[in-house]
Amino acid sequence: MSTRLSESRFAKRFGLTTPIALAPMAFATGGSLAAACAKAGALALIGGSYGDLDWTSREYGAAEDELAGDATALAKLGCGFITWKLDEDASALDWVLERPAKPAAIMLSFGDPTAIARRITDASVPLICQIQTIAQLPEAVDAGANVIVAQGGEAGGHGMNALDGRGTFTLVPEIADWLAGHAPHVQLLAAGGVADGRGLAAALMLGADGALVGSRLWATRESLAPDAAIAEAVNACGDGSARSKVFDILREKNWPAHFDFRALRNAIHREWEGRIKELAADPAAAVARYKEGVATGDYSRAHVTVGESTGLIRSNASAAEVIAVIDEEAQRLLG
Ligand SMILES: Cc1cc2nc3c(=O)[nH]c(=O)nc-3n(C[C@H](O)[C@H](O)[C@H](O)COP(=O)(O)O)c2cc1C
Repeated sequence: MSTRLSESRFAKRFGLTTPIALAPMAFATGGSLAAACAKAGALALIGGSYGDLDWTSREYGAAEDELAGDATALAKLGCGFITWKLDEDASALDWVLERPAKPAAIMLSFGDPTAIARRITDASVPLICQIQTIAQLPEAVDAGANVIVAQGGEAGGHGMNALDGRGTFTLVPEIADWLAGHAPHVQLLAAGGVADGRGLAAALMLGADGALVGSRLWATRESLAPDAAIAEAVNACGDGSARSKVFDILREKNWPAHFDFRALRNAIHREWEGRIKELAADPAAAVARYKEGVATGDYSRAHVTVGESTGLIRSNASAAEVIAVIDEEAQRLLG
């Protein structure tokens, strides 16, 4: 393996200076964070997520504006969507695919990509598919994925529930082996728990071509996450997050059964985590208390979407600083 990370397969494929991709995080990866990451040499995926056309066009457009005149950075800008939401409305995807400067890539997560992937591959835009199990791998490769993101259960935000999901440390090499045998042209990123140079170096040693970083870049000055939420994450240790259905029920998001959500395990989470069926059956009062918590910035009730790597997040730095530190540390370790 080359110790010059800019020469890794993933960096070369997308013209990056480091094999890092910014995760398309709902309500956090807006134009400013994506533009900062693209300028810092990473692949930058706007959080198109639930497919809201107004939000996506505003934030994607803001990144384009910030990168105007910097064609090298603009060429690193892409977008990510939640697959099962696109099945309901794909207008935001179509808007991104029609940009005058083609997106660097579109990432699909959570759901069978087969049907919607056609629009992306037909537009000759690179397709990235985030998966959580070996069972999902052939379907993603057959859909035309150029890059697979192997997401372990440590990840912040949505992922596979504890019963069906996997840890990053075993999922990545198992997928790397399968790809080497079946589809060696398809690249692999590790996701879930990569927040420093040790994580990126480990991902590369496990057979990945790079890493998709969410939580660590969520906690940056350019992120749309509220400063107070980032402060909660900075103060938490890695034991402090949990994966469950609690916040999807409280947020009235109708996610498919096998996916759930990792966030800080705050008071309202602890109150309901052992009584999920009860909460789902009669959520109204809890939803009202949760919404009040969001409105007042009370993080004993509002969710803070961050993964286990919250314990590795010690400051709210700029995205460029975070990327430079991860890259330099990985480079040193691999050297
Ligand atoms: C705040 C937040 C929001 C997220 N939203 C999305 C999303 O909308 N779509 C998606 O594919 N993944 C989303 N993810 C998951 C990321 O794509 C990625 O798998 C994860 O962040 C990687 O693990 P890490 O958080 O430990 O870096 C989100 C993650 C976070 C932390």
